[in-house]
Amino acid sequence: MGRVAVVGIGPGCREHLTPAALKAVEEAEILIGGKRQLALFPEKTSTILLGADHGRLMEVLRSNRGRRIAVLTSGDPGFYSILSILLENLPREEIEVVPGISSMQLCFARAGLTWHDAAFYSVHGRSTEGLLEMVRRSRKTAVLTDPRTPPQEVARLLLAGGAGNRRAVVCEDLCGDDERVVEGSLEEVAKGSYKGYSVMVILE
Ligand SMILES: C[S@@+](CC[C@H](N)C(=O)[O-])C[C@H]1O[C@@H](n2cnc3c(N)ncnc32)[C@H](O)[C@@H]1O
Repeated sequence: MGRVAVVGIGPGCREHLTPAALKAVEEAEILIGGKRQLALFPEKTSTILLGADHGRLMEVLRSNRGRRIAVLTSGDPGFYSILSILLENLPREEIEVVPGISSMQLCFARAGLTWHDAAFYSVHGRSTEGLLEMVRRSRKTAVLTDPRTPPQEVARLLLAGGAGNRRAVVCEDLCGDDERVVEGSLEEVAKGSYKGYSVMVILE
């Protein structure tokens, strides 16, 4: 099949795109990604728009065997991305991982906090099972949220589970035109209205 570059493009703006990621995109004969990801590279003409259909992605990769392909992921490929599916379906040596700046990293930076001492969770397309337990055990928990379980919903869940005596920093639309970083108690976050695709850091 040749090498498939899995390229982390950062939180979604050119400013936070690494030179190595840009080079991998420039060198690709075919660029595969979601709508917002591909929009970052208007200069590329050979692109394939793919959503969450993993079967279709594998089909596209097989039918373009031998060509230089870059699969885009938001943030860093090693942090909740399509990379897990590719590792399950392709030999390791056919995959080149190009790291990116994770939305989680940028959220910690915006909040002025370290992340080596945090626990991580994602409710993006996933259940919230285990989240309450993690928040109870950790002094700092970072959560990727989505429109099905936005930050206000996560806050409500934690309040209902008796873990309400905490604060949270919510980072939405990081490095986008509507970027917003809000800090407040879980009660305040529960009453707020935040974009689904956000990062939330919960602090003891
Ligand atoms: C499928 S996960 C991918 C995470 C990605 N690999 C990373 O390292 O950031 C998608 C989630 O990342 C977060 N995310 C990605 N880009 C973001 C941004 N610009 N602002 C806020 N959150 C973002 C949201 O929680 C979103 O639901």
